[in-house]
Amino acid sequence: MNDNNVSSKRRSLLKGAAGAAGLAATGILHAPAVIAQPARLKVGLMLPYTGTYAALGNAITNAFKLYIAEKGGKVGGREIEYVVLDDESEPAKGVDNANRIVNRDKVDVLVGTVHSGVQAGMVKVSRESGVLSIIPNAGFGAATGQLCAPNIFRSSFSNWQTIHPLGKVMMEKGHKSCVWISWKYAAGEEMFGGFKEGYEKVGGKIVKEMWLPFPNVEFQALLTEIAAAKPDAVACFFAGGGAVKFVKDYDAAGLKGKIPLYGNGFVTDGTLQAQGSSAQGLLTTLHYADGLEFPKDKTFRLAYAKAYKLQPDVYAVQGYDAAQMLDVGLSAAKGDIKAQKQIVAAIEKATIDSPRGRFTISRAHNPVQDIYLRQVVGESNKFVGIAWKNLSDPARGCSMA
Ligand code: PHB
Repeated sequence: MNDNNVSSKRRSLLKGAAGAAGLAATGILHAPAVIAQPARLKVGLMLPYTGTYAALGNAITNAFKLYIAEKGGKVGGREIEYVVLDDESEPAKGVDNANRIVNRDKVDVLVGTVHSGVQAGMVKVSRESGVLSIIPNAGFGAATGQLCAPNIFRSSFSNWQTIHPLGKVMMEKGHKSCVWISWKYAAGEEMFGGFKEGYEKVGGKIVKEMWLPFPNVEFQALLTEIAAAKPDAVACFFAGGGAVKFVKDYDAAGLKGKIPLYGNGFVTDGTLQAQGSSAQGLLTTLHYADGLEFPKDKTFRLAYAKAYKLQPDVYAVQGYDAAQMLDVGLSAAKGDIKAQKQIVAAIEKATIDSPRGRFTISRAHNPVQDIYLRQVVGESNKFVGIAWKNLSDPARGCSMA
């Protein structure tokens, strides 16, 4: 093409543009046949996909995606695009990883995580950036306590909440003294606080506290100490791969038939196949159980099993409900993620039809929910009863509560 041709082409383009502008002014130009789609909504999944909590991160991811798929891949009319980041349950990288996904990848919504120490870093970034955030597991108390914020919600539990009812359960079984054992990090410590408060209130005595650094699983020396201390019972918090090993080691040390083991249900959720006979009979408290009679639970379990050839657990339920909460908020705002006030108001007043049973959301943005007593039978955490009806986290220090 010579210079002449270029300039004549340019001229005709200009003429065309001017002509179109003229037609538009007269109202003759019609809208193009293809209607522009709204941009996709970027959902950041910051979860552990390696390490002792890897199975938990995967279950949350699976069920979150299941819900979105059930809605045709869209919420509030917006197609979802995922940005996935493995946080490795590594608190030292929490702030950097959260900054990467929020400020570099520019997600519209932040979903995560499992580990309370990592959550502390994420909450900092959520508060600074104002990004809509849904916590699908970590019980980090301050997220819905001292550091609560309008843009931060939780679809799971607070560390205080699931274990607070356990002391009463243990006293009713006649266990007046116990040893506490857990990992020494935010979740273990906060759960200890919730347990102690409930157990001492009904007259229980904690004779010894035992702690291991996360995610250490060298239990042997401590199990020998427990045998020597001879408490009425043992109460614990462990989860994921570490929980599998703890329950098996407790049995192998000969303690299972002698000193009853209790915990919140994380010690037996998603772990029963691997724990086998070592877990049989264990009593735990949690906001989910096998054998609940809710229609929503039945359809959820069928759909999850069909999609993933796996049985769902409490982590899957929390992932599914995180997606439900996002849907409620975004649908109310017709897909406009910038309409945060509207989104927040819609989630705050929602009743979530969860597989765990319906729940509402407290003013501090934590689920208000029933805590069940469950017992391990075969590969089920069988529903035994309600340990505490409609339990709300006290949300200490939250200015919104
Ligand atoms: C936590 O770190 O908050 C945490 C991790 C795993 C659980 C429960 C809580 O199963």
